[in-house]
Amino acid sequence: MRTQRSSVVRPSGLRWPARLTVLIGMLVLLAVNAQAAEPIVIRFSHVTSEATPKGHGAMLFKKMVEQRLAGKVRVEIYPRALKFNDDQALLALLFGDVELAAPSFSKFRSFSRQIQVFDLPFLFSDVDAVNRFQRSEAGVKLLDSMLSHGIKGLAYWDNGMRVMSANRPLRTPQDFKRLRFRIEPSAVMQAQYRALGVATVPMPFGQVREALKMGLVTGQENAWSNIYSKGFHDFQKYFTEARHSFLGYMLVTNAEFWANLPAEIRAELEKIIAKVTDEVNKNAREKAESDRQRVIDSKKAEVITLTDADLEEWRTLLVPIRKKFESQIGLEIIEQAMQANQAR
Ligand code: SIN
Repeated sequence: MRTQRSSVVRPSGLRWPARLTVLIGMLVLLAVNAQAAEPIVIRFSHVTSEATPKGHGAMLFKKMVEQRLAGKVRVEIYPRALKFNDDQALLALLFGDVELAAPSFSKFRSFSRQIQVFDLPFLFSDVDAVNRFQRSEAGVKLLDSMLSHGIKGLAYWDNGMRVMSANRPLRTPQDFKRLRFRIEPSAVMQAQYRALGVATVPMPFGQVREALKMGLVTGQENAWSNIYSKGFHDFQKYFTEARHSFLGYMLVTNAEFWANLPAEIRAELEKIIAKVTDEVNKNAREKAESDRQRVIDSKKAEVITLTDADLEEWRTLLVPIRKKFESQIGLEIIEQAMQANQAR
């Protein structure tokens, strides 16, 4: 009797143990589908305010992703070093704690010595030259120069030419005596200020305002949008435009994360990044003008422009630094950068 009962076949055509298996299978499938429907999260950490080209770019990226990839990708922005400071962002990217970052070029030194080319004093004549170099073969290659470390460059974002400041007018190299400058963690900047006879203190961007206020440092250099948005002009009276170097960023991601994205999502993100990059770079040019003017209008600080004779003195001191970094960066890259100064 018992043997007969256990072999009863239900109208569905399946015995009970088989039905249970199907049910479990369906539940697993449902769970997998529910998981697949979860949006991909892209966390973007950076250190500047929303009122800078980078801050503007991050917000625009989020807005465009929400429009074009709604329900598929979600973007979380962490500005003003709220999540990671600039000395932590790249490690966070590698550990999978953020998916996007856009550190300034000097922050990549541990991963690519070649990227130091962007910080060399008086190498690029202006922002157009920097952009031409970024579009050149050498510039495009640099985006992939950290792949062996797991970092993929997606785009170059501009801020602007750097401006130096102190509480005395800096017109000639002699004016730098006994000053203490905050610098980015950059060997190039260190060499630059050594040539000017200045002590340097490498420091994350988020600490500079307080350090100027407390007098821990007595000078700094940065782009106008960073200076204005952080109010460095509250504590620095003179800003010298030597047009000696450029502050820009590489937008980077974790190479493995990027490679594992579904192809159609990656392609859409690439299109969005191209559009955002154009907007960031347009915004950077506008901000370089408008934030400079805001500092002047504040009447707290004065902008110093240099004569050709002054500039010649600066160049004589600072251009030879290039030689020191030639073997690290590569002569070919430096030469391509110099060629970019010729408008085509
Ligand atoms: C930034 O613009 O991301 C910060 C640059 C700096 O460290 O001064």
